[in-house]
Amino acid sequence: MANLPQVPTFNIPEVKLSSSSGGRNMPVIGMGTMADPFDEAVLKEAVLEAIKAGYRHFDTAALYKSEKPLGEAMAEAIEAGLIKSRDELFVTSKLWCTDAHHDLVLPALKNSLRMLQLEYLDLYLIHWPLSAKPGKIGFPVPKDEQLPLDSTQCGQPWKIARVNQVEISPLWQQQKLRGFCKSKGVVLTAYSPLGAKGTRWGTDEVMDNETLKEIAKAHNKTVAQVCLRWAFEQGLTFVVKSFNKERMRENLQIFDWELTSDDYKQINKIKQHRLMPKPEMVSPNGPFKSPEELWDGEI
Ligand SMILES: NC(=O)c1ccc[n+]([C@@H]2O[C@H](COP(=O)([O-])OP(=O)(O)OC[C@H]3O[C@@H](n4cnc5c(N)ncnc54)[C@H](OP(=O)(O)O)[C@@H]3O)[C@@H](O)[C@H]2O)c1
Repeated sequence: MANLPQVPTFNIPEVKLSSSSGGRNMPVIGMGTMADPFDEAVLKEAVLEAIKAGYRHFDTAALYKSEKPLGEAMAEAIEAGLIKSRDELFVTSKLWCTDAHHDLVLPALKNSLRMLQLEYLDLYLIHWPLSAKPGKIGFPVPKDEQLPLDSTQCGQPWKIARVNQVEISPLWQQQKLRGFCKSKGVVLTAYSPLGAKGTRWGTDEVMDNETLKEIAKAHNKTVAQVCLRWAFEQGLTFVVKSFNKERMRENLQIFDWELTSDDYKQINKIKQHRLMPKPEMVSPNGPFKSPEELWDGEI
């Protein structure tokens, strides 16, 4: 076939997620699809570029509104011969709080599948361990609309969950949670591993960190690559968003070099603090509860 993209010369490592149906391999790096500003055409084009670059793992959610353009891009990638079938991809979507009710979960899942033009998801996450009054999907969730999740089902999520997706970066390493998840056989996925630089919800603190800049310079790499390499060496999986053709490729160039023990001495000294949500992202009606807070609370 003419004009086929260059096949990447590396294999992206995978982790095995166990399940009653035998398990599924999840590529350690996934492409995030939460974008601000959001533009369907830009997202679709970015996903096609990502598949050409070698990405096989995509992270979406009903909240992000990215399911439809992601679905269109995946269908187009198959049509164009970039991949042979949907089975070559690992697709995660998420249940939003307003659908976290026993009679709304299945309809929400079916709607996500319809938007994605898929027959199955590889992973379906509870977006946040929080329920909300049924209604329009949106953020933030006003305090007076927040409801607790059914604790008989979710009191100890590690008993059923195979993956926990939380904020992790060198500035918020989550050592305690990581130890806990490891002991329970739960795979951790780091979101916003670059601190979501340049977004409404993110911060420049990770990419502007002086320690990370020095390490990057010493290896002739970028700060983004140092963050992602660090996550990889920590045994994490991670979802990183770049819709830029060069940067999405840059983010894949992390599998053929290593951080040194001196790098670790420096990284381990970085002052730790949660970066998200920013104070201005907190619900105007009360304190915001993020997944980590709730999991941490239960540990
Ligand atoms: N479960 C949850 O509650 C939750 C919360 C947040 C995020 N997520 C998921 O995690 C994904 C990733 O997190 P995120 O999007 O918040 O943040 P992120 O991946 O840490 O950062 C994304 C930002 O970094 C920029 N960027 C990417 N690669 C770069 C590079 N090599 N050099 C310089 N800048 C670079 C991107 O801009 P360009 O596109 O212009 O490159 C974008 O502005 C999301 O898209 C979403 O799928 C989940």
